[in-house]
Amino acid sequence: MRLFTESGYDVRVVPTASALRFVGAPTWAALSGHPAQTDVWADVHEVPHVRLGQSADLVVVAPATADLLARAATGRADDLLTATLLTARCPVLYAPAMHTEMWEHPATQANVATLRARGAVVLDPAVGRLTGADSGPGRLPEPSEIFAIAATLLDRAALPQDLAGRHVVVTAGGTREPLDPVRFLGNRSSGRQGYALARAAVARGAEVTVIAANVALPDPAGAKVVRVGTALEMRDAVREAAATADAVVMVAAVADFRPATASATKIKKTSADPDPVELVRNPDILAELAHDRPRPGQVVVGFAAETDDVLANGRAKLAAKGADLLVVNEVGEARAFGTTDNAATLLGTDGSVLDVPLGSKDRLADAIWDAVAARLPG
Ligand code: C5P
Repeated sequence: MRLFTESGYDVRVVPTASALRFVGAPTWAALSGHPAQTDVWADVHEVPHVRLGQSADLVVVAPATADLLARAATGRADDLLTATLLTARCPVLYAPAMHTEMWEHPATQANVATLRARGAVVLDPAVGRLTGADSGPGRLPEPSEIFAIAATLLDRAALPQDLAGRHVVVTAGGTREPLDPVRFLGNRSSGRQGYALARAAVARGAEVTVIAANVALPDPAGAKVVRVGTALEMRDAVREAAATADAVVMVAAVADFRPATASATKIKKTSADPDPVELVRNPDILAELAHDRPRPGQVVVGFAAETDDVLANGRAKLAAKGADLLVVNEVGEARAFGTTDNAATLLGTDGSVLDVPLGSKDRLADAIWDAVAARLPG
């Protein structure tokens, strides 16, 4: 709620009776600047059970409990929140949080499927420590990540749900190739562009698997995150996830070479000159995937960072990799790596060229999904 109010949104809080056991109405009132709305029978002359939903630009239910999802899926209107959900014609975002067993129960899964089929965005919960000693899927995603998805939905009120029912895989970050237990060959990729793609795909209704190499950002809400370290680990993870994927977008910066051997113990500093480091080639994961095409109609997208002759180098790389689309970044002058903005040219095997001017990584992510969605078989 603070993230919304601090960004200038007018927030009305509708806590359920159970929510008030955790955070009381005065706290909500003080933080939102409006009385918390809890009762269908309060201020009846203002018809709050209809007005709240009708006037909202977005409804966010966070955390969404198993009970709330069940009531929403069956269209109950037994409190002010469920009545609001029935009258809302704006996007509705649910961020479920509950114990793993409750989340995985077929009843909850059926309710989630119903809500998604009606156009609601229901995030998959994060995986991690739950309220007890247990851990697993069921954790509420980080507030900043829920807010990021919400901001996307608000930005594009008519956001297409054109990835609903699709599984997409995004690689993010940069691989690290160990020299010894404490040192590695790596690169400066932060994972920001990959995570922006994951968020954008979640907001467009996709089931999203992110293969994250050494990313120090909060997990994107609603996405499954598989962590890897090296290029070889990334290759295994991509192969597994791509088997069921409709699209694979390879944003990660993958090391082309790795040390031929990694020392099991820390390499010592000696008075003698250091030994040269022998390197061997890593597999080209993108080229392998584009060649094997584990799933018919799968759309494969690569990224390329170029410093010069962007178009010619990009075209040659697109052909060499065999991908359907290549997102070419001009790098240098501190652009792209670690920044929040990005500009790119999207090259298609059909000869298409689309320039995406410098803007947020979220904006570029949406342009990429527009191009992917247009290529997905019906
Ligand atoms: O050849 P280059 O490294 O410029 O290609 C970049 C693209 O290829 C990115 O999409 C990157 O994820 C992918 N790549 C890969 N495996 C490698 C090297 C790059 O999948 N070994």
